[in-house]
Amino acid sequence: MKTKVLMVCLGNICRSPLAEGILKSKLSDSAFLVDSAGTGAWHAGEQPDKRSIAIAEKYGIDLTSQRARQFKIADFEIFDYIYVMDQSNYDNVIKLATTTDAINKVKLILNEVHPDKNLEVPDPYFGGDQGFENVYHMLDEACEKIKYKLENI
Ligand code: 4NP
Repeated sequence: MKTKVLMVCLGNICRSPLAEGILKSKLSDSAFLVDSAGTGAWHAGEQPDKRSIAIAEKYGIDLTSQRARQFKIADFEIFDYIYVMDQSNYDNVIKLATTTDAINKVKLILNEVHPDKNLEVPDPYFGGDQGFENVYHMLDEACEKIKYKLENI
């Protein structure tokens, strides 16, 4: 059985598609499934934001086959780890959880790098390209930690 990891943000067009692409690039497809979703549905069916596609491409990662979807309650059953980008994502996902097992799957992704600090991946949607560069590096560092953790469980 593959270990399944879900990356979650608000729109599923900026941060979580990048997190999905970065983590996928670090793990073997045969042992891991990585997906992403948004707590909101506004962008469902869309490709990632072109600025996320561009920054990923700069580092050799292709996001163009991804399509946005909304987080759903069944994701608690499907995924082993659910990483959220900020406190608002956390609150919105936790609201849908009905078991402690489900609640325990949900983690702020930057706590993998800075344990218990509850730092957030800032939403780059309304900013410029530098925001996407910053987000890329934050997520790359977090995904490196996640890779190490998951490969050594
Ligand atoms: P994301 O960024 O949560 O990183 O995908 C956003 C994208 C779109 C919107 C908000 C955040 N929006 O309001 O449409």
